Amino acid sequence: MANAKVKILRGNIVYAKSDKELQEINAGYVVIRDGVIDGVYSQLPTQYQDVVVEDFQNDVIIPAFSDLHVHAPQYPQRGLAMDKILAEWLDQYTFPLEEKYANLDFATQVYDSFCDDLIANGTFHVAIYGTIHTEATSHLIERLEKKGLYAYVGKVNMDQNCPDGLKETVEDSLLETERFLQKYASNVTAKPILTPRFAPTCTQKLLCGLGKLAQKYQVGVQTHLVESLWEAQEAKRLFPDVECDTEIYEKAGLLGYGPFIGGHFIFPSNKDVEILKKYNGIAVHCPDATVNVIAGIMPFATLASQGVKIGLGSDIAAGHNLGIYTQVAKTVQLSKIKSFYEEGHSPVSFAQAFYHATKVGGALFGKVGSIEQGYEANLLVVKNTSDHYQKLSPIQSVERFCHVGQPNQIVARFLRGEKIQ
Ligand code: GUN
Ligand code: FE
Repeated sequence: MANAKVKILRGNIVYAKSDKELQEINAGYVVIRDGVIDGVYSQLPTQYQDVVVEDFQNDVIIPAFSDLHVHAPQYPQRGLAMDKILAEWLDQYTFPLEEKYANLDFATQVYDSFCDDLIANGTFHVAIYGTIHTEATSHLIERLEKKGLYAYVGKVNMDQNCPDGLKETVEDSLLETERFLQKYASNVTAKPILTPRFAPTCTQKLLCGLGKLAQKYQVGVQTHLVESLWEAQEAKRLFPDVECDTEIYEKAGLLGYGPFIGGHFIFPSNKDVEILKKYNGIAVHCPDATVNVIAGIMPFATLASQGVKIGLGSDIAAGHNLGIYTQVAKTVQLSKIKSFYEEGHSPVSFAQAFYHATKVGGALFGKVGSIEQGYEANLLVVKNTSDHYQKLSPIQSVERFCHVGQPNQIVARFLRGEKIQ
């Protein structure tokens, strides 16, 4: 192709081929053409010998991460107020914080720093909850679009069981949501998504109205699904004509028009699983949140073996770590607790957790999340974590990074082949 922009990175390369196998290439080359990976080599083909190579030496090139469940407005609360579980945590800490997003100055400060920190942590693809406030959420989606990050961003809907400052009328909620959808319909990377918070805070009338918008604008939906026993019971109490939480969204006509992202999915019935699969939905495992405020562990390996798509989420601020690499390590840890204390569950390997955090999660946004031909070059370079007395393989180096890494160990970031930050 004439005038194509070719860029070459050299370093150790690690990506997930499948849930069972990570691929590593020692001192390999990633050839990027117009932002897309053209080839991955252990020896550079002679046709490229005149192209300048950016050499990362012993450091490791990996795909950027995908966070499929995060509440941007809760960023100021991360690592704080962890002494309650879900319902009390929302009432006492989270809802009062979210009320502050009526103030656009406050929202701007938080959201700008949240977006910077997402990039610092190597998350380039993200599904985000805003608040009920359209102006604040507009700032968030505009900021993400400007940065070129892949995102689904939702103005939250709530019309019951929340403080007056966050309670919308059905009419206002639908009008504001439609305004948000229309305004950002032509965005390139940061797109709107419907975001009814969860069954306890949404009436059937509101959900059915959102179902009509889903069809009219062909947009997807994100919500919390069977995240706690309390939530699952409340869903059935408030919606007596459904068999399970997920059916509420099916009956409201919300499914089948775009991505369907179910946060947590910790206590799914067979019917929840059946509906999620029917609409090609993805369940999101949020390990820190599970420990901090939810107190249940997703049956990750069991669901994956049943063909349920699963991504990872930070779930700030129920979770306290924005870096998805930390959640890779915690997925492995929690799977062992689950398999030790409950029959019929298996541990998750590092390879499997990494695969879900990169390739499975990335698939929601397009061809991102791997280092194979045809994938967009959304890449991170992480420091080699070998000890001076012990050399680690590239895969081990990444495994250690996921356990003990910090954002400052990400030494370079490439978004569609361009170096950022
Ligand atoms: N369920 C409803 N709202 C929330 C929230 O903000 N965080 C979490 N973790 N669960 C929820
Ligand atoms: Fe959440």
